[in-house]
Amino acid sequence: MSDLQTPLLDTTIAADSFDLSNPEFWLLPRDVREGAFYALRNAPGLHFYDEFPFPDSPFPVGDGYWSLVSHEDVWFASRNPQLFISGKGSNIQDLPIEMAEFFGSMIAMDDPKHFRLRSIVSKGFTPKEITRVEGYVREKAKTLIDGLLERFPEGSCDFVTEVAAPMPLQIICEMMGIPAADEAQIFNWTNVILGAGDPEFGGTLDALMAAALGMFTYAQALGEDRLKTPGDDLTSIMMHAEVDGERLTAQEFGSFFILLAVAGNETTRNAISHGMRALTQYPDQKELWWNDWEGTTKTAVDEIVRWATPVIHFRRTATEDVTLSNTKIEAGQKVVLWYCSANRDERVWSNPFEFDVRRPLQPHQAGFGAGGPHFCLGANLARREIAVMFDEIRRRLPNMRIVGEPAYLESNFINGIKRLECAWK
Ligand code: HEM
Repeated sequence: MSDLQTPLLDTTIAADSFDLSNPEFWLLPRDVREGAFYALRNAPGLHFYDEFPFPDSPFPVGDGYWSLVSHEDVWFASRNPQLFISGKGSNIQDLPIEMAEFFGSMIAMDDPKHFRLRSIVSKGFTPKEITRVEGYVREKAKTLIDGLLERFPEGSCDFVTEVAAPMPLQIICEMMGIPAADEAQIFNWTNVILGAGDPEFGGTLDALMAAALGMFTYAQALGEDRLKTPGDDLTSIMMHAEVDGERLTAQEFGSFFILLAVAGNETTRNAISHGMRALTQYPDQKELWWNDWEGTTKTAVDEIVRWATPVIHFRRTATEDVTLSNTKIEAGQKVVLWYCSANRDERVWSNPFEFDVRRPLQPHQAGFGAGGPHFCLGANLARREIAVMFDEIRRRLPNMRIVGEPAYLESNFINGIKRLECAWK
């Protein structure tokens, strides 16, 4: 059966018949995976999973984690950062703390460290800055479509490589003041870092470390350069921003850059790919959006992010004993916030398995995080990018559709699509 025709939810799965930790779970058909989370949401209490003993990992296997699957629990953990901290790691596997901060920057920190860093870097994400890049976003999207028309006269190509992937990274590079000639290198580094679990991207720990180090060194040099010779880019704004008399160090900027290049690139790319796929699967929704662009764009973009949930989970660690869903979580235990499940929780969403471009805006949409202090810093930028990309498609390639089977990323963290054939004639 074609992936575009797969039923969306298999309700026959029993809550104790699968293991979320097993990488094979993440290769199961989508309806089975959705069925598994549906079963967990409707089973009493929380489920605990042991961690998977990855054979090549140099790190000890952790003690397991509680799965938060209801919207209420995910929201609660996210909004109570004193009870559920990020500083012991924001992904399931434990890393030495220096490494977690090296890779994760502020996403793996708590206050006051997190507050200080976020206050500085958010100076680059003010509405004024976002408006400033808007023209550039439009220009990039236009150039991309021009390139498609020129290079693929037969009217078909890979949507991910040619449409969804290039723009978000180009925007970040442009915002940060990175020369176009270095973009391909940055693109490769981010692919290796996020595809660490997927063999196709050379998924070894050594490859991951080499890519992160390459990116870190590059960014550190960039930060130092803009400190001496400021330009009108975000790197200069961030390197010169002061909060309570403190500035970012070049190392902090290096780590933040890794977070930014990864967080702002793969996520937006996957939102756009899943969005195109959803518009193909639901032509009536595409029609509705295309025919009332002004009136529908805001809700359509947020529905794409809910539908795609490009970031599947983040993790927190309990600081004291807490009871959630009648289950006692002990101090020191890990919890995993499954955003994918919160965004399908039938107690919050009506018809969660329907893609509805006019679904009323929901402040509790969990695609950008669940309302806590780590809420996505780039949410407004991402929304702009998605809207502009689809606007260009609508105006210039209104018949664009997905024609092949998607190749998914093997990951429990990023809901990624690696390849997706599209056609527009
Ligand atoms: C559709 C696209 C995107 C999605 C789905 C997404 C999703 C997320 C999620 C789930 C978090 C964690 C929230 C939490 O733990 O509460 C996050 C954090 C973050 N995102 Fe995004 N993101 C997207 C685009 C972007 C872009 C374009 C940028 C920047 C260029 C960006 C920068 C960040 C940063 C810096 C953080 C960390 C914030 C903190 O720890 O305080 N993201 N994002």
